[in-house]
Amino acid sequence: MPTLPDCLVLHGERVTLRDWRAEDAPALEAVCGRQEVCRFTSVPSSYERSTAEAWIARLVAGRTEGTTLALAIVEAHAGMPVGNVNLVRFSADGCRAALGYWLAPAARNRGLATCAAQLLCRWGFEVLGLTQIELAIQPENDASHGVAERIGATRQGLRRNSHQADGRWWDMVIYELERPEVDATDPQVDR
Ligand SMILES: CC(C)(COP(=O)(O)OP(=O)(O)OC[C@H]1O[C@@H](n2cnc3c(N)ncnc32)[C@H](O)[C@@H]1OP(=O)(O)O)[C@@H](O)C(=O)NCCC(=O)NCCS
Repeated sequence: MPTLPDCLVLHGERVTLRDWRAEDAPALEAVCGRQEVCRFTSVPSSYERSTAEAWIARLVAGRTEGTTLALAIVEAHAGMPVGNVNLVRFSADGCRAALGYWLAPAARNRGLATCAAQLLCRWGFEVLGLTQIELAIQPENDASHGVAERIGATRQGLRRNSHQADGRWWDMVIYELERPEVDATDPQVDR
């Protein structure tokens, strides 16, 4: 498992990614549990303030154990999170991980998920040393296929019975993003 930092803030041109905080629970409660957010994710469909508080608290353990790195997506010059982006399912050698994300419905169709995913993947490759990031997307989740394509992930095909949720197995379309070749003239992300 990788060693994940206790605190992380990543600044992009349009979004900042930062750690979830206890005071974000009301913002989470307001959007999570809505069909538009939980339909294609592991976010529970029944979501209360206590669900949000418990999730934020669990992230600390996930960070320490090297299993979960979830960051709030905040628009530049705003304070309230509008979504989540995460790296999970790290391989034992720490070289591979899976990417996930969601946006509040009001924050969609402006490219924010694409910006957030690009920022976190770049950090994952450059700082964490990942060599490959996987995305597993339900076939009918067109918006998420769009994000995968915009960040340059390559569609691998359908993986049968890939994920278990709601008491059944789901087929997923798998995308892979490879670590880009390093160009010594490129500025690096903050460490
Ligand atoms: C998946 C999800 C995050 C995608 O959200 P999104 O708003 O479509 O994605 P982005 O924020 O990257 O925005 C892209 C859209 O904004 C448009 N856009 C506008 N300005 C843009 C800009 N500056 N840069 C990029 N895209 C821009 C794009 O054209 C695109 O619209 P299109 O699909 O009609 O072409 C969102 O649908 C969601 O939260 N779904 C529920 C959870 C989920 O499914 N998560 C993924 C599980 S695998």
